[in-house]
Amino acid sequence: GASSDKLRHVESMSELPSGAGKISGINAVVLGESLAAEENDLIFPSSDFSANALVSSPKQYREMYERSIKNPAGFWSEIAETFYWKEKWNPAEVCSENLDVTKGPVQINWFKGGKTNICYNAVDRNIESGNGDKIAMYWEGNEPSQDGKLTYSELLEKVCQLANYLKSLGVGKGDAVIIYLPMLLELPIAMLACARIGAVHSVVFAGFSADSLAQRIVDCKPKLVITCNAVKRGVKPIFLKDIVDVALVESEKNGVSVGLCLTYENQSAMKREDTKWQPERDVWWQDVVTKFPTKCDVEWVDAEDPLFLLYTSGSTGKPKGVLHTSGGYMVYTATTFKYAFDYKPTDIYWCTADCGWITGHSYVTYGPLLNGATVLVFEGTPNYPDSGRCWDIVDKYNVTIFYTAPTLVRSLMRDGTEYVTRYSRKSLRVLGSVGEPINPSAWRWFYNIVGDSRCPISDTWWQTETGGFMITPLPGAWPQKPGSATFPFFGVQPVIVDEKGQEIEGECSGYLCIKKSWPGAFRTLYGDHERYETTYFKPFAGYYFTGDGCSRDKDGYHWLTGRVDDVINVSGHRIGTAEVESALVSHPQCAEAAVVGVEHEVKGQGIYAFVTLVDGVPYSEELRKSLIMTVRNQIGAFAAPDKIHWAPGLPKTRSGKIMRRILRKIAARQLDELGDISTLAEPAVVDQLIALSDC
Ligand code: WTA
Repeated sequence: GASSDKLRHVESMSELPSGAGKISGINAVVLGESLAAEENDLIFPSSDFSANALVSSPKQYREMYERSIKNPAGFWSEIAETFYWKEKWNPAEVCSENLDVTKGPVQINWFKGGKTNICYNAVDRNIESGNGDKIAMYWEGNEPSQDGKLTYSELLEKVCQLANYLKSLGVGKGDAVIIYLPMLLELPIAMLACARIGAVHSVVFAGFSADSLAQRIVDCKPKLVITCNAVKRGVKPIFLKDIVDVALVESEKNGVSVGLCLTYENQSAMKREDTKWQPERDVWWQDVVTKFPTKCDVEWVDAEDPLFLLYTSGSTGKPKGVLHTSGGYMVYTATTFKYAFDYKPTDIYWCTADCGWITGHSYVTYGPLLNGATVLVFEGTPNYPDSGRCWDIVDKYNVTIFYTAPTLVRSLMRDGTEYVTRYSRKSLRVLGSVGEPINPSAWRWFYNIVGDSRCPISDTWWQTETGGFMITPLPGAWPQKPGSATFPFFGVQPVIVDEKGQEIEGECSGYLCIKKSWPGAFRTLYGDHERYETTYFKPFAGYYFTGDGCSRDKDGYHWLTGRVDDVINVSGHRIGTAEVESALVSHPQCAEAAVVGVEHEVKGQGIYAFVTLVDGVPYSEELRKSLIMTVRNQIGAFAAPDKIHWAPGLPKTRSGKIMRRILRKIAARQLDELGDISTLAEPAVVDQLIALSDC
């Protein structure tokens, strides 16, 4: 029972992974009181779970971890050998890993000289090992009555047909392809087809607006755009093809014309007759792709050839094209998937993320398929037809691993436990969380209610840039603390540094950096290697800077505390405050805007915008709506401000810098914590802002 498990593990507490080392004092500001109380709360995997786990004790982890740090080349080569390589990498060059800009350019390489193909490894290799008839993907549509499935052999045929079609268009190695699709099986199929022929996919989340899509098209100049006519999310239809139409006109104006839009007819959402069509540019997927052969040779690519570009938000207005390459990313996503979820070949795995984000790249498509897993792809939304949908799906497919985001947990928690307990969920074995820190109360609800206090939760901390998990529980290896991502994955050396970039040891808090490279690391920002070095490697020389704050407790557990830069995290989606600001100021009546994140019960953070209007323009409800509309149109609905706060002026230093610290406090209504405002050019603006708080 639970209590004897506890006893068994208490003994092993002394052998927790990375002993706390020297205690250097607690930074009470970051650590916070509630966190200090949580710190001693340990939740143990059952002895049964541990006994059957890939890594079943702190000791086993520590041995593997130490080896991965002492000899990264040996550790990762051994794993890489389990994949298929057309040509082996040069053993003397497994990794080149200078992360210190002061010592020369940061040019990360793994398995240099090796030739492989991730599509081959994720699909063909499973068929060759006898799993051709295993289900690769289940598909659950928006309506509970719609579903589908593909075996690995069927998946290969679909991928090959599309790959052949792309080849017939002259798309080849190094060419960019933009994919703007919802969660249909055609989305991972399109990613794999690109990978098969060496083309570089750039998936744009189908919630982005035409303007955002155009911006990405202009940046990477794709040979074609792949989309579908429409999708239904709950009861709401979204006309994706119309959005692409607008984006293509917009890109054309900016000098990039795309001559082909391959459109999948998503019949359950919209008939082809109703779709606006430009015959000289648009082609129906179903009319052309199905005519191509179901076999297609693989293009063998260099380990360091680009695999995909994924745009993400940073602290300036322009999204960054994060570039991942083939070999290291393949090895890393597969390995992290396997260990963090304690993957077994009989698992049915469901990740609720959209392939438009990194989680969908690494842990819907590549990581699981590279392990030969059965993956569920869900087109709809978790609260349609009602808030029990997730558990209905879990029971329908006997899902064993369920990976989601804290925002979803919190929203379902608010809807009530009866939606959960109505379903059996007995198939569940492992739960996962990603995207933002999971607050301990949401963690507990997830653990106790969804998982019936039986399933360990892997709270995986990582980023678009890291390619795969960096700090994560290995679910059978050690007790968890609700809200902590626990310990580093193999090969990852997290360090916490202070303002000056000095590493701090033991119990501490500060900025999270990573020392030494790992195979899944991004290699550059597309077309802007200088920005890559400046953003990530210059803030703290010698390290990769994550942009996150972190504390480490006395047992060595890591607690992520959120972004320390001008990026906010809304429902697990990264949004740059500068992007929202630049959308707002493009409104003709907006003179200036400053955006900060504010705590939000369900979304984690909400978007709070201070807006100064052009002289003489009065505040109005209509204007508020029109400002919000501008952001929806320029970025997407998910970036719409939750609050517009009218601001006659913004608090600025004498040199004109906006003091966001003060704005954050006003937004959070922490008026007694404004701190020193005497350095402001006009301290009176603070009172004006406070007076307008509830307008
Ligand atoms: C945050 C998503 C705490 C963090 C995979 C990071 C998390 C940013 C966690 C990256 C977690 C992600 N605990 N914070 N388990 N996972 N984050 O690029 O602030 O969309 O820097 O990648 O999300 O967001 P991104």
